[in-house]
Amino acid sequence: MTTNSQVIYLKNYKPPAFLIDTTDLDIRIGDEYTSVVTRLKIRRNPASSEMSAELVLQGGKGIKLQEVMMDGLILDSSGYELEDSKLCIQQCPETFELTTECLIQPQLNTSLEGLYKSGGMYCTQCEAEGFRNITYYLDRPDALSVFTTRISAPKTSYPVLLANGNPVDSGDLDNGEHFAVWHDPFPKPAYLFAMVAGDLVRQDDEFITASGRKVDLQIFVEAHNSHKCDHALASLKRSMLWDEKTYGREYDLDLFMIVAVDDFNMGAMENKGLNIFNSDCVLADPATSSDAMFERIEGIVAHEYFHNWSGNRVTCRDWFQLSLKEGFTVYRDAQYTADTYSAAVKRIDDVTILRTHQFAEDASPMAHPIRPASYIEINNFYSVTVYEKGAEVVGMMHSLLGDHLFRKGSDLYFDRHDGQAVTTDHFVAAMGDASGIDLSQFKHWYSQAGTPTLTVTDSYDAAAQEYRLTVAQSTPATAECQHKQPFHMPFRMALLDANGTEMPLVVQGNDAITGTTCVLDIKQAQQTFVFQEVKQHPIPSLLRGFSAPVKLDYAYTKAQLLFLASKDQDGFCRWEACQRLLIEATEEAMLHTDGYQITDALVSMLRSSLVDEHLDTAMVAKLIQLPSEAYLAETQTTVDVDLIHAAREAMRMAIASALENELLTCYQRCHDTGPFSQTGGAIGNRALKNTCLSYLNSLGKTQYHNMAQQQYALQANMTDVGAALNSLIAIEGSNLATPLLTDFYQRWHTDTQVVDQWFAMQCGANRSGGLEQVQQLLQHSAFDIRNPNKVRSVVGSFIRSAINFHAADGSGYAFVGDMILKLDAINPMIASGLAKPLGRFKRQTPQRKALMQKQLQRLSEAQLSKDVFEVVNRALDSSND
Ligand code: BES
Ligand code: ZN
Repeated sequence: MTTNSQVIYLKNYKPPAFLIDTTDLDIRIGDEYTSVVTRLKIRRNPASSEMSAELVLQGGKGIKLQEVMMDGLILDSSGYELEDSKLCIQQCPETFELTTECLIQPQLNTSLEGLYKSGGMYCTQCEAEGFRNITYYLDRPDALSVFTTRISAPKTSYPVLLANGNPVDSGDLDNGEHFAVWHDPFPKPAYLFAMVAGDLVRQDDEFITASGRKVDLQIFVEAHNSHKCDHALASLKRSMLWDEKTYGREYDLDLFMIVAVDDFNMGAMENKGLNIFNSDCVLADPATSSDAMFERIEGIVAHEYFHNWSGNRVTCRDWFQLSLKEGFTVYRDAQYTADTYSAAVKRIDDVTILRTHQFAEDASPMAHPIRPASYIEINNFYSVTVYEKGAEVVGMMHSLLGDHLFRKGSDLYFDRHDGQAVTTDHFVAAMGDASGIDLSQFKHWYSQAGTPTLTVTDSYDAAAQEYRLTVAQSTPATAECQHKQPFHMPFRMALLDANGTEMPLVVQGNDAITGTTCVLDIKQAQQTFVFQEVKQHPIPSLLRGFSAPVKLDYAYTKAQLLFLASKDQDGFCRWEACQRLLIEATEEAMLHTDGYQITDALVSMLRSSLVDEHLDTAMVAKLIQLPSEAYLAETQTTVDVDLIHAAREAMRMAIASALENELLTCYQRCHDTGPFSQTGGAIGNRALKNTCLSYLNSLGKTQYHNMAQQQYALQANMTDVGAALNSLIAIEGSNLATPLLTDFYQRWHTDTQVVDQWFAMQCGANRSGGLEQVQQLLQHSAFDIRNPNKVRSVVGSFIRSAINFHAADGSGYAFVGDMILKLDAINPMIASGLAKPLGRFKRQTPQRKALMQKQLQRLSEAQLSKDVFEVVNRALDSSND
């Protein structure tokens, strides 16, 4: 805990003064203490300008240094200094061997960074700076070393001993102990180190690489989860094949292991050869996991696997470069999901996340570019900006270069930098060099935060058959940069004729554009494009596929939106037109709280999707879904949480009553009573059916309550069970869900993943009385404040239930303030995640704003971790903006 926090700046980067060629760890697990003997072969870094610098190794608060030896000689206390969690050695030769012995107590580590205990097993999480909690080390991503790890532990309690790389030795020791030695031939930074010791069962599979090598695939889980591994193994094999086909990247070791642990701060971690996963993000079976969870697991398995190239073989020079691996890998996993399932639906999901959460972050006190310029605690920057906007930036390069040159660029990047720790500049340089395209202006995306607005205006000259499109960009000031340079971005578009057919494109001064869709290069603050031989007044289909992470401002008329909603061949734009109409309608409902009348045009638009049996049902579900309250809030200049909620509920009811028959017919059509299937069609049917169910249950009719109860009683699969429960929980003022929730808990109380869902359903319900409910559930025997999944299910879900978190009397904010203080002493990373929402007060009503600031002020007066300190202080600093 500290308040005297140090800001770290990108501009101060210096290469390390020393390099560690090899790292030999000897980790002996014991009940009270775990001993760690670290033997390092160190030499001075020829690339460093400080040829007589002292050696500085980082170490966490919890490690007890027992002994330091240099080249076999024990150093007495005058030979080194221990201060401020640093081990400093002043007199160092050119090359030497340094051995340290430390004692740690993983069983007391509640921050879940470093070596810790989850249930009965030992496991590690070292990214970003957890390795220093295991031993004194050069804990920075540009220090690459070859690791050999020896683990010993009591054999009966910890029969499985794992670390990175290949197993090279193992055997029994005295006193019921045993040991295993692992060697990883690929040099890596400490953040990719991992080890596990536990009583686990193994599921095996194998994969033959393109070059014919056999790779053993192993998933390790607690025995009671052994039936939940199939999906992850199948996903892993699909990802391995996809990366060979799409990026030409093969796996490099002969063994790939995944371990599932229950206590984990994040979703999963890409440690070399030994990925460690949050159980929730890897274990699945249809009875206990919804379709959404299956999809999420597949994406995460792919993501961590893809890091083997984008992250491990080519890693980051420093943590400011995090998006180099995370943005690129999120882009890769999104491409994988789009290629494997529905590209349009994946794009809609990702754009929804980006616009709801990243745009909000970009407008918040925590706004930062995808390559931040400074930080106090790097954990705060594993953000939607670095991840999702970072992925968009890679996607924009793909659009600007086209498929062929983008692949050429990624090949050059991987080949040029294999085995190195590099920067985002190296990535862009590889893309530029391979393609011959000048990306110098494009780099502003890495250094400027904020969401640009693209204002588009147009005119049509019938006599000249000319259509002019003017695109102007502007980006609001953010803390790091007041005046923004214009961004370089791809603007994908088409022009539609009155039938919805795409017209041939002839762009003045640009012969490269042919065909009926194009990507315009936007580079200037304002730019005009002249389309020629345009035979009739076109309707423009703009920002197709959401080709850049911007807000598009074009004054579409309602008639044009209705047209695009039924005619646009671009799935994203079609959905976007529907969404715009629904947002506009909700805004009208906000003005008429005493009785909202839905328009016939909107009803018939929704009807035509609903009754169209040829459309992909997953897509129909997207088309008819209302924008979330969170996204609606994002579109308003002042956020009135209650008004948004009331208006959206009014819309839901208006749609349900206007389309009751169609919704019911559609429900029945999609309700599959045959054997459970996970084909795209079956998943889409469930999504659409459950969307209909949710609409119907807004009508308050017993008939539909019964329908939900019957769907629950069938217990066909977790998607249907969860949706049935949610549709009943959502009914304001009713307790119809209560007996079902009791039944649900009785059925599933032994499965901690399902219990997480049970908590989340109740705590996330956006109906009044949420705080009381949450406070009761915190007392429930299954709740555990040390388990991040439980905290996310209860407190995280509560924050998402806007009307409760934003309760007018400030009780929601005060509760979250209490929880942050409690959690900060246990797990700062989780605490700071809960603090970010309190900083988003800018567009709230003045009363709420004051109440949020009051909680931040209260937090700032406490002893805080660096994590929470940074979030709270940034928020308070922005109060005067
Ligand atoms: N490298 C991260 C995990 C990580 C994040 C470790 C922050 C330490 C601090 C991993 O590759 C990752 O990004 N995981 C995501 C899931 C992914 C699908 C975006 C996660 O854990 O949420
Ligand atoms: Zn990642």
